[in-house]
Amino acid sequence: MRKQIAAANWKMNLTIQQGETLLNDVLGASIELTSNQQAIFAVPFPYLLMVKEKIAGKNNYFVAAQNCYDKKSGAYTGEVSVEMLQSIGIQYCVLGHSERREYFNESNKMLADKLNLCLQYGITPIFCCGEPLPVREQNGQNEFVKLQLEESLFHLSSEEITKIVIAYEPIWAIGTGKTATTEQAQEMHQYLRSAIADKYGKEVADSISILYGGSVKANNAVELFASPDVDGGLVGGASLNANEFIQIIKALK
Ligand code: G3P
Repeated sequence: MRKQIAAANWKMNLTIQQGETLLNDVLGASIELTSNQQAIFAVPFPYLLMVKEKIAGKNNYFVAAQNCYDKKSGAYTGEVSVEMLQSIGIQYCVLGHSERREYFNESNKMLADKLNLCLQYGITPIFCCGEPLPVREQNGQNEFVKLQLEESLFHLSSEEITKIVIAYEPIWAIGTGKTATTEQAQEMHQYLRSAIADKYGKEVADSISILYGGSVKANNAVELFASPDVDGGLVGGASLNANEFIQIIKALK
């Protein structure tokens, strides 16, 4: 069975002291994860080593970067390379979050380059996709998200694509409190999996974890995660509250 993942995306929030307190409180719940479950903390670059140190020895707890640069190394002041992340033992990297696509003009092609570098350095990408509200209102979400996969993922080999995690995050549900309904989430996840199956076959498609993101809360996580094609969540606001995120981890199937 594919991994069931509760991933926290702290975004650009918290001081390191607040982050340490939050993490201590979540880890203090001593949730025993099964071999199929994972809890991942996607935190700002300066906090990566703090989180890595705190989760050391805790089975199936991981730390993720929220981004990486699309060049291997060089004169790119201020950027962080995949090689740097690998050198400090980071195993996951969120790529293509809608906020990065919007504010930093990240294209599907740029994300393909970032994905290639992550795979080259053995880092698991958590690839974000999702449509804006006007596209959803025109019922164009399937075509929109499929293009994101085609342009960023579908150059990968069957072996490579089994190494990634996908996060479907309808932009209109991010930070709005307007969660996609369970039916909408399941419908899109099923569509994504079928698009992958058309390209790579059912066995490959069934092995890939597809997370839902967009106003996941303690009070909707159980229902969302119970859907057959929803393999957990990528959580923003609720991950900044220890009790909320503890309940979301516990909601994993
Ligand atoms: O990456 C997850 C994030 O975009 C979702 O944010 O606050 O709606 O859970 P939020």
